[in-house]
Amino acid sequence: MCGIVGYIGKRQASEICLEGLRRLEYRGYDSAGIAAIRDGQLEVRKVVGKLVNLTAALEEAPLLGNVAIGHTRWATHGKPSVANSHPHLSCDGRIAVVHNGIIENYSQLREQLQAEGHRFQSETDTEVMPHLVEKYYEGDLRQAVAQAIEDLEGAFAFGVICADSPEQLVAARRFSPLVVGIGEGENYIASDMGAIRPKTDKVYVIGDDELALITTDDIELTDLALNPIEREIFTIPWPPEAAEKGGHKHFMHKEIHEQAEAIHNCLAGRLSSPDKPIVLEGLGLSDQEIRDLRKVVFTACGTAYHAGMVGRSVTEAWARVPSEVDLAAELQVRDPVMLDNTLAVVVSQSGETADSLLALRDMKSKGAKIVSLLNVVDSSIARESDGVIYIQAGPEIGVASTKAYTLQVLTTQLMALYFAEVRQSAAPDQIRTLKEALLALPDQVAELLAREDDVKQVATHYYHSPNSLFLGRGVNLASALEGALKLKEISYIHAEGYSAGEMKHGPIALVEPDLFTVAIVVKGLVYEKMIGNIQEIKARQGPVIGVANDGDNVIADQCDDMLWVPPCPELVSPITIAIPLQLLAYHIADMRGEDIDQPRNLAKTVTVE
Ligand code: M6R
Repeated sequence: MCGIVGYIGKRQASEICLEGLRRLEYRGYDSAGIAAIRDGQLEVRKVVGKLVNLTAALEEAPLLGNVAIGHTRWATHGKPSVANSHPHLSCDGRIAVVHNGIIENYSQLREQLQAEGHRFQSETDTEVMPHLVEKYYEGDLRQAVAQAIEDLEGAFAFGVICADSPEQLVAARRFSPLVVGIGEGENYIASDMGAIRPKTDKVYVIGDDELALITTDDIELTDLALNPIEREIFTIPWPPEAAEKGGHKHFMHKEIHEQAEAIHNCLAGRLSSPDKPIVLEGLGLSDQEIRDLRKVVFTACGTAYHAGMVGRSVTEAWARVPSEVDLAAELQVRDPVMLDNTLAVVVSQSGETADSLLALRDMKSKGAKIVSLLNVVDSSIARESDGVIYIQAGPEIGVASTKAYTLQVLTTQLMALYFAEVRQSAAPDQIRTLKEALLALPDQVAELLAREDDVKQVATHYYHSPNSLFLGRGVNLASALEGALKLKEISYIHAEGYSAGEMKHGPIALVEPDLFTVAIVVKGLVYEKMIGNIQEIKARQGPVIGVANDGDNVIADQCDDMLWVPPCPELVSPITIAIPLQLLAYHIADMRGEDIDQPRNLAKTVTVE
């Protein structure tokens, strides 16, 4: 969840690391630090808090040198403090390490190292690494790192430098993401391609238990026994400016506004006309395997889980395969009854979420075939899947997921329709209507984005509220949960997402004038029932924001405020409904003055269990 970056070349390395860290800050922002080597001496600057503090520290006391490593932290072991910030050093202060991940056997290693005379300065798991490297160092940094790694259990991506070998930067990984960026006369490491994209579009993606020895002109990849590894160069498929705010106040706002185009791009090449079959490259399933499917299990975390909920509904409805959805953290601790020909669908923006990866491995070990719906290319989840469908959202930097969600939902819909065609489980007319509805989405979403001021106006009525309830039912239970998650994570307003059918079984006790309810009541199966829920809330003086189809005055007459969405088939509607709910959360949080792109306690990619 932390961000790491490193540089070796001819320029001021700390400046390049700082720039990279700015692009990685979304991964964690409890503290930050950089170590650089100059004239055979290693120097470090570390601060608590966001990168602005590190920038100020570097302005006051610049770090010079042509090799450096940097880190932005999301605390796991030990509170945010200067001592716990990375880089961590060896006893003699000549070896520096930045780390993303968790070293599970650190307390045992720490005891051993202390017994051998090593002195620790922090409470972190990471600090065992510089001491281990110091223990094994006999003039060959790579060798020492490889030996140290043999002692470690857990997940890590490391950047390591040593004052005795300033011409080298060593990187290694197991389980946590890491790339080596290829420059001319200079090279980079980063936990995320976005950090170095403005510098290069060519990277090596490092695999588990692999090491990289990096100099200004060379990159050698090896396994832990130092056997050379051949790796193809990966070209980052998006332009440098894709990771900039592009005039928007926040990345979240930019990413909300990218959705019409992103949906268009996601459909391109897959669904071109209601009369043509869907093309899904990368799925990795033969038509016979699709016909033979006996169960589909969606699994994911957070927002991606909500997309999986929609996936479950559409797969069941259109492809007529028994379908389930489970939180990745829960699936691992269940012992699901497995059927032959079970497909597990892992949904993840980053492709690095630890719980999703563990759920994948669990399902694979039980015999399921794995298809993943991912955004980041060449991630850990991608590498362990039988098939991958990329949602093609481009980089998503805002911690609150927006465009990835709508594209994850869209991809589950495309996959379910594709299955329906192969399995002939839906009538051709129905399939045609659904395809038309998907093809209409880019224009509908563009129209919804153009109505932003209306949503902002609604936000002015509620941004002071302490509590909120999001109600939906059927496929739009997912929309209610996602709307509540968006609001709570960036505005810190207490937001409950509930099935409207459950309202009378408890949540109605919360209803009072200070709690606003967002009721999703588009035309479809649950329309009438949702009207009943709205009336029950109004009878208890609870303010209601209705999310309804354009021109539905029956709903408007009963609600205090309205968020309008264009009509479409109910099972397609989670995409259109997401837009005003994202904008509502965004504007409420903005009116409250919150730090929208870096909400407290969160990190973009959760690479720890
Ligand atoms: O990268 P992933 O899609 O696997 O991430 C899953 C969740 O951590 C993520 O969706 C999280 O819930 C977001 N902060 C929600 O906005």
